Amino acid sequence: MQSFTLTVLAACLGTATANPLWGRATAAITSAQLTEFELFSQYAGAAYCTNVVQDPATTLIECEANGGACAKVEANAAFVLDSFYQVGSQLTTGYIGIDPTNNLIVVAFQGTPGFDSAQLVDDLEIYRDDTTICGSADTNDSCEIHSGFLSAWNEVQSLVETGMASAIAAYPSYGLVFTGHSMGAAIAAIGAAVERNAGHIIDLYTFGQPRIGSADISNYITNQAPALGGNYRMTDYNDIIPQLPTHVYLFGKDWDHYTPEYYIDINGTDITTADIQVITTPLFSTAGNSGWSLIDSSITAHREYFGYISACS
Ligand SMILES: *[C@@H]1O[C@H](CO)[C@@H](O)[C@H](O)[C@H]1NC(C)=O
Ligand SMILES: *[C@@H]1O[C@H](CO)[C@@H](O)[C@H](O)[C@H]1NC(C)=O
Repeated sequence: MQSFTLTVLAACLGTATANPLWGRATAAITSAQLTEFELFSQYAGAAYCTNVVQDPATTLIECEANGGACAKVEANAAFVLDSFYQVGSQLTTGYIGIDPTNNLIVVAFQGTPGFDSAQLVDDLEIYRDDTTICGSADTNDSCEIHSGFLSAWNEVQSLVETGMASAIAAYPSYGLVFTGHSMGAAIAAIGAAVERNAGHIIDLYTFGQPRIGSADISNYITNQAPALGGNYRMTDYNDIIPQLPTHVYLFGKDWDHYTPEYYIDINGTDITTADIQVITTPLFSTAGNSGWSLIDSSITAHREYFGYISACS
């Protein structure tokens, strides 16, 4: 039923837009920002490593031993403080890491286990739940959020909060980062919105994040920055997943994105600062990843954030 719906949507909308070769809001990023994106892509990738998400506290985060690659994380002597493995109906998995080199507490969520396209698309069920996350800013759609992603967060919220409290108690001067790839990116975004509401300042780095809701939650997360932390939503070239669920939904409800989008405008993993377009148009823009038609989009690009981000899975 769920994959059927998306198949229909893909068939209807597959030829709606063209390759995004115009209308870009171009603003270069710095090489320091590029390095940060690469570092956090590796923290997000490490959440796919079974050892990492099952390691006891204080074990070093190592990806290579699991078939992955997170050299920058390993070079920082980052370690696991706490982890959660296949919790609840959505099997939410991730870890809380400590980066003693950058003085950071990193909360990372795993994407879809198994990681094949059929499974990913199947996860994109299109039901939504009203939430109170937007507070009085639920002016349009009751701050609705994708039901599956919301449950995935709700099922680990208390575990994450307990782990964060221990981390903050032990490392009170450290900054907080939430990160994830794919469905893990969606969970990170919802979690960051909730924990910012609880008073934490959190930088949010996501890679290949699907849409999590429409206008209210998208505007809300956009507006949490910069006071409550930065939003760094990275999309890669013709990655299909950030385009799902499709912006225009058949029954009159849009799906949108928070901004900015950091769009990798190059096919492959050899990325320079000149290859990243920063797009700040609210809710929906064809200047970046959403300018691709679904039919020209790919799951291959979904795996390519600097390296093979889910190589551990
Ligand atoms: C309200 O939501 C609708 C449907 O999702 C959308 O088209 C519209 O742009 C939104 N309006 C505002 C002011 O955000
Ligand atoms: C991107 O590169 C891959 C590998 O070279 C190729 O198979 C694919 O067709 C390219 N995608 C586009 C949209 O050009």
